[in-house]
Amino acid sequence: MMKFSILISAVMVATTVQAADGISIKLNPSDSAPIIAPEMYGQFTEHLGSCIYGGIWVGEDSPIPNTKGYRNDVLEAIKELKVPVMRWPGGCFADEYHWMDGIGPRSKRPRMVNTNWGGTVEDNSFGTHEFLDLCELTGVEPYISGNVGSGSVDEMQKWIEYMTASDGPMALLRKENGREKPWKVKYFGVGNETWGCGGHMTAEYYADIYRRYQTYCKNYGANHLYKIASGGNASDFHWTDVCMKSAAKMMDGISFHYYYVDDWNAKGSATDFDADSYYMTMGHVYDINTAIEGHSKIMDKYDPERRVGLMIDEWGTWWDVEPGTNPGHLYQQNTMRDALVAAVSLNIFHNHAARVKMANIAQFANVLQAMLLTKGDQMVKTPTFYVFKMYIPHMGARLVPLDIENCEVIEVHGRKAPVVSATASQKDGVTTISMANILIDRPQEITIDLAGMKASQVSGGIISASDIRDYNDFGKPEKITLRPFSGAKIKDGRLTVKLPASSIVTLRI
Ligand code: AHR
Repeated sequence: MMKFSILISAVMVATTVQAADGISIKLNPSDSAPIIAPEMYGQFTEHLGSCIYGGIWVGEDSPIPNTKGYRNDVLEAIKELKVPVMRWPGGCFADEYHWMDGIGPRSKRPRMVNTNWGGTVEDNSFGTHEFLDLCELTGVEPYISGNVGSGSVDEMQKWIEYMTASDGPMALLRKENGREKPWKVKYFGVGNETWGCGGHMTAEYYADIYRRYQTYCKNYGANHLYKIASGGNASDFHWTDVCMKSAAKMMDGISFHYYYVDDWNAKGSATDFDADSYYMTMGHVYDINTAIEGHSKIMDKYDPERRVGLMIDEWGTWWDVEPGTNPGHLYQQNTMRDALVAAVSLNIFHNHAARVKMANIAQFANVLQAMLLTKGDQMVKTPTFYVFKMYIPHMGARLVPLDIENCEVIEVHGRKAPVVSATASQKDGVTTISMANILIDRPQEITIDLAGMKASQVSGGIISASDIRDYNDFGKPEKITLRPFSGAKIKDGRLTVKLPASSIVTLRI
């Protein structure tokens, strides 16, 4: 067992309402606070490793229990999480994907080499029909990523026509392939990471390309596209400035990707890490807040009404692959550290609900910070899965701004993180408060001022671990799951909570 060493620098702020030594939170409900878009709980499904093949799709002839080729356990998990939106087919893969290869009889579809991800040969058995039918079956909104890097305007236009038109040559082709009615497709991405794997373009060049491609992203019948431009890398504010200046009026959203990686050459193990590196990661999570603020400020300049959404359509942890697995498949385990990263990130996103209209954690199954891991017919729900499950009440709820006072800040190698992160929202007369204690060795006493709310009942759930490196594994009982929480009491309009070390709690009042 590694020894955890902690360096804490305490920053004490004057308090208004607080327990003897504890943290105080004050809720400030307001009718003008923004709604947390349900799409902030979106997922990303790329043709990468076993995210699609094996993770979601096993084919109708598989011995693994399936419905029309989709794993039954995964279908259940999608419904359990009430997944609002799924992005497909990539990522980098999207800019080498030619959709016509993935339609028609499966036995006749050409094979392809997935050059981005391990050189794996794919048989194209999962294509447009399979993805859009999956979305229909599970009530998920599809988000299609179009190919700009190696695809033509014509190819993109025809794909949209194929999916959404009720008549015309592409609609006829779709009907010949067994689908009479057009699908409803709202979200459409015009390229992915066009600064990198999507074409290595400059911001200026892409802005023009975006204007051109989006012209041919047409609305057929009642289908109305929400067009998303490819954003710059992490904190590339110049990119946002150039694209917004040139094309804000021609877009509905601009994407933004952020992975919590300190050193791309030494990302570190997903399960074997010490306290210092854990706290550094938690500090890194707050950098996304700075990046969102930076992009939002530029967007405010060109779009003060906040019509254009900032779409965080890839985010999460990115560790070294599990030993013995294909380095191009990005398969990693998922510990309590990942759960805390997810909770703190979502808390941050909520605060930007006026601008952030979607977020898609990378990725849904078997890749990076996954909800699910699969091996043959087995499936594991990760700690991150349980955070998404626990946070469902926040989806579509009105944000309740809050102040946190008397909260220590932990600092490791220059990275700083408040030891408690919290968020609150209201929907249908219920207030939901989520809190995360990132400290691994100390509980936190928290007093919450309910701002005059008449409340006598509180119920809650908790995700916690005795070791931050705990994870759920195949064939073993779940170490980390969502459990009932009884550590909260309401008295005289105040709520007191004891948050265990390394835990995430959600209360419903
Ligand atoms: O999620 C893995 C990859 O990360 C995506 O394909 C790409 O868009 C990003 O660089």
